[in-house]
Amino acid sequence: MSLPFAGRTCLVTGAGSGIGAATAELMAERGASVAVVGLPTDSLGDTVAAIDKAGGTAIAIEADVSDAVQVQDAVDRVISEFGALHCAVNAAGISGQEVLLHEEPIEDWNRVLRVNLFGVFHCLRAEIGAMLRVGQGSIVNIVSVQATNPLSKRTAYTASKFGLTGLTKVAAKDYAEHGIRINALSPGITDTPMMRAGGAQSDQIAAFVPIKRVAEAIEIARGAAFLLSDEASYVTGSELVVDGGLLLRPT
Ligand SMILES: NC(=O)c1ccc[n+]([C@@H]2O[C@H](COP(=O)([O-])OP(=O)(O)OC[C@H]3O[C@@H](n4cnc5c(N)ncnc54)[C@H](O)[C@@H]3O)[C@@H](O)[C@H]2O)c1
Repeated sequence: MSLPFAGRTCLVTGAGSGIGAATAELMAERGASVAVVGLPTDSLGDTVAAIDKAGGTAIAIEADVSDAVQVQDAVDRVISEFGALHCAVNAAGISGQEVLLHEEPIEDWNRVLRVNLFGVFHCLRAEIGAMLRVGQGSIVNIVSVQATNPLSKRTAYTASKFGLTGLTKVAAKDYAEHGIRINALSPGITDTPMMRAGGAQSDQIAAFVPIKRVAEAIEIARGAAFLLSDEASYVTGSELVVDGGLLLRPT
């Protein structure tokens, strides 16, 4: 079996479920030592156990990405356990309420921005600091097709993901010459706890997708693994859309 990430470490946030968990497991399967990062309430142990069972290496680290100190501590822990940080996938995110802008509770707006935008800023800050010491690295920020074609009544989520696109691009520009590639991956509708919490059934949603099904989390993970890999050595500041053709639909 090919192990393109052998000898490398990878930190994945939101790795207790959904896209983050699938990415952590795939990176471990491809040889990386993985830091499985998420909230204390997340199933981080399940992801680590799945990696262990498959013969990989992983540690769980509890951290709330909206807290810059906790994020820095998480990256420091990766360095102390594994020696260096080579790859990161910033997947932690929340969807917020479905509500018109003038009815958006201020606290909901603040929370979504703190996790989805400030959270990735905290992660990039700590991850890039560590990668500058290695002299290379690769980071993927999980954005959304909603940063291209917003759903209505998702004000905070959409604003956070548009902001994340800008954050990804400026960081990519500033650190390219330091050997650090930073890209966005925008999933379409993916079967995860976040999608299921929205109340819709995957077969109902599938009708809207040109490929006629929602994505499995592993299909998004494969896109992230490509962007992190040497196969994408000349790719930075770009957005990989993995959406089954959703953005091709007329609005
Ligand atoms: N599922 C979809 O259809 C879809 C589509 C487009 C984009 N996305 C994005 O993909 C990413 C992963 O979402 P998912 O679908 O796997 O959902 P998910 O809910 O399964 O995963 C998100 C994870 O992030 C964790 N998390 C939330 N707040 C956190 C915080 N403050 N600190 C650390 N961890 C935190 C959650 O507990 C959860 O484990 C998100 O950024 C989401 O916006 C998902």
